[in-house]
Amino acid sequence: MNKVILLYASKHGSSKEYADMIGTELDVKAVDIAKFNCVKKEDYDTIIFVSGVYASKINKIDTIKNSFNKFDNIIICPVGFSEYNEEIKNNIENNFNQEELKKVNIFYLRGALDISKLSFLEKMMMNIMKKMLKKNPEENKEMLAAFDKPVSFINKDNIKDLISYVKEI
Ligand SMILES: Cc1cc2nc3c(=O)[nH]c(=O)nc-3n(C[C@H](O)[C@H](O)[C@H](O)COP(=O)(O)O)c2cc1C
Repeated sequence: MNKVILLYASKHGSSKEYADMIGTELDVKAVDIAKFNCVKKEDYDTIIFVSGVYASKINKIDTIKNSFNKFDNIIICPVGFSEYNEEIKNNIENNFNQEELKKVNIFYLRGALDISKLSFLEKMMMNIMKKMLKKNPEENKEMLAAFDKPVSFINKDNIKDLISYVKEI
């Protein structure tokens, strides 16, 4: 395994929880993206960035993009509430241009949602989403359930593929 820097950006805790799990498995410390400027990039070959997905955007992804050329391996773990499918895959990939896409390895991780802990603005955004989801209630049953009670898909099994991959490089 190469020398790994593990970073996270987390608004409500899911990405931090995953980053801590990954850190335990790889025996590296998870570092808040706010400290990225202080990281000596030349000390690392591999960067892992774990971050929440908000309106299809990977939170704080721009913070690390300028440093892509400093690492041999770039692993991005977007943490979203949606079930992974072709549409979500495309949305995630739209966070990168063609050049960047060639460099990154993406491991999507399913997160959590607790509506009661969201900010006023986030609650408003979620209410708009609820109206859209209600148009197909059966198909969106899992997502709609999160409006009644906190729902979490965070699970150690979800990081298995990522851990195997990192241990092989
Ligand atoms: C305003 C808002 C927008 C969201 N947009 C998306 C989205 O586009 N796709 C998705 O899969 N999850 C979306 N989510 C769910 C978050 O990605 C999920 O809660 C994730 O676990 C957050 O990670 P964090 O707590 O580490 O920031 C959204 C949540 C909020 C509050």
